[in-house]
Amino acid sequence: MAEKNGKTAETAKKTNTEIIAKTRKIAKTAKKDATGAVDVGCCGKRIGVYPGSFDPLTNGHLDVIKRASKLFDKLIVGVLVNDSKKNPLFTIEERVALIRKCVKDMPGVEVGSFGGLLVDFVKENNAVAIVKGLRAVSDYEYELQMAALNKHIDRDIDTIFLMADVQNSFLSSSVVKELAWHGGSIAGLVPEEIEEDIIRTVSMRRKK
Ligand code: PNS
Repeated sequence: MAEKNGKTAETAKKTNTEIIAKTRKIAKTAKKDATGAVDVGCCGKRIGVYPGSFDPLTNGHLDVIKRASKLFDKLIVGVLVNDSKKNPLFTIEERVALIRKCVKDMPGVEVGSFGGLLVDFVKENNAVAIVKGLRAVSDYEYELQMAALNKHIDRDIDTIFLMADVQNSFLSSSVVKELAWHGGSIAGLVPEEIEEDIIRTVSMRRKK
C-alpha cells in the first residue's frame, strides 16, 4: 500500500509539474490586452459573424448590423454562397457590393462571402460568435435548431440573437422583392443607398 501510495504521490507530482509547465507555456504565448488580461480572441479583437443570404439587404438587416457592431470589435457580414437557392435577384458579388455601400461609414464592419459550413467561416475568421436577428416566434424554431446544430458542430461557438426592431418585424428580402416586382414602393424598407439598385434590377428582370 505504502509503495502504491508512494507511486501515486510520484505520479501526481509528475503530472503537477507537467501542468505547471504547460500553463507557463500558454501564459507566455497568450496575447494580453491593455489591462493585462489574457485575450482569447484573435489579435486582441472580439469578432462576430452575421451570416445570411441578403438578397437584398433590408433595413432590418442593417439595424442588426448597427447594433451588433457595438457588441464586437469587428463584425463580419457573411453572404452565403448558396447554389440551391433558385433564381436569386443579385449575384453574390453584387450582394457583397450593395452591403459594402451601406456600411462604408462603419469602420468595425467588414463584408465577405462564404460557401460550406457557417462554423468553418466563423473559425477561419477567428470569430467567437454568430449573430442572428429574430423577428417573430416563427423565426425562433428554425433559429433554435440552427444554433443547436452549430453548437453541436463546435462547442466553442455561440449564437447571439438580437430581437428585430418592432417596425421591422414584417420585413424580409422576399417581401422587398415582391413589392418591387409589383411596382410597390420599397422606400423605408431598404437602405436609401441601394433602393435604386434594387428597383433597376427588378425592372430589368421583369423585362426578360
Ligand atoms: O438569411 P438566411 O437565408 O436565413 O441565412 C441562412 C444562413 C446563411 C444563416 C444558413 O443557411 C447557414 O448558416 N448556411 C450555411 C450552411 C450551414 O452551416 N448550415 C448549418 C449546418 S447544416
